[in-house]
Amino acid sequence: MNKQHDTIRPIVWQDDHLELLDQRILPAEYKFISYHDVRDVADAIRDMVVRGAPAIGITAAYGIVLAARNRFAKQGDNWLAAIQEDFDTLAASRPTAVNLFWAIERMKKVCQEIDGNPEPRLLQEAHAILEEDIAANHKMGELGASLIEQGSGVLTHCNAGALATGGYGTALGVIRSAYAQGKITEVHADETRPWMQGSRLTAWELIKDGIPVTLNTDGAAAWLMKQGKVQWVIVGSDRIAANGDVANKIGTYNLAVLAKYHGVKFMVAAPTSTIDMSVASGDHIPIETRDSNEILNLGGRRLAAEGGSAWNPVFDVTPASLVTAIVTEKGVVELQDNNELRKLMLN
Ligand code: MRU
Repeated sequence: MNKQHDTIRPIVWQDDHLELLDQRILPAEYKFISYHDVRDVADAIRDMVVRGAPAIGITAAYGIVLAARNRFAKQGDNWLAAIQEDFDTLAASRPTAVNLFWAIERMKKVCQEIDGNPEPRLLQEAHAILEEDIAANHKMGELGASLIEQGSGVLTHCNAGALATGGYGTALGVIRSAYAQGKITEVHADETRPWMQGSRLTAWELIKDGIPVTLNTDGAAAWLMKQGKVQWVIVGSDRIAANGDVANKIGTYNLAVLAKYHGVKFMVAAPTSTIDMSVASGDHIPIETRDSNEILNLGGRRLAAEGGSAWNPVFDVTPASLVTAIVTEKGVVELQDNNELRKLMLN
């Protein structure tokens, strides 16, 4: 595993509890919060202490460990019936990232097989989910980097980095690997309104890991492409439908349209836990809409004109036809053929 540019771990199991790096206050403060109760873990996901599709899934898995411990302590052998409520609490935290539901299902299956105290076996599974995610990111890094030509500039959106995963990142994993190989000349990052995952998180983690990054406003992307400064847009995903449509942070669809117009290639890096073969196309992916105050206010103070309203969908869907390549840990899919993803998932 390439250890270069890889120092950040936002989700840590510490002795008997979960610790999450508080991503709401980065980069001003670097602070972990401790969790002992699954309801608090669900709140942490909803409130964006932890965010990014794979990171949400991993966090939910550890949340189930805490839930099982508490249920077993209170309800003894009836813990399995009682814990269903906790699965529902976690599942209700955020709707779009399918990794959340994938992780809950995987932990549920393990629950069915347990006899006696569930905590050790569930903790082992949560650790496995975390470690597999990091390994998948390194594999995607390698595969994605192999597609990038020497001397390329890249543009990324939101934060699909170490902070959004167990570590190393999906889109930023590809960027880390390609940068380590000397292929990338410039990394550009969209600020990513309204949560500023680009300027707060992507910039922080790339700088921390020694990769220079240039920020631009979301609205500058077309002009950046027009200057010939980027050859690839590289993003992550929250859910990929069976036909290759890609849900990701609001604004990703804009970039894909712009990339097509300017002849820039468009890469989506995502583990297979992000692929949802149960939804035929992006039309069926639930898109989270968050509080309009996230747009109307800035830093807790009203920014927008009083009396106005705001629409705050936080994801959009990029049609498969605009995607050059989907990079997963199992291989690269180029979407000329509708059955490509199906073949990959059956491997
Ligand atoms: O609202 P967020 O910050 O959870 O949105 C995150 C994204 O859209 C990421 O790009 C996506 O989850 C891929 S993360 C590897």
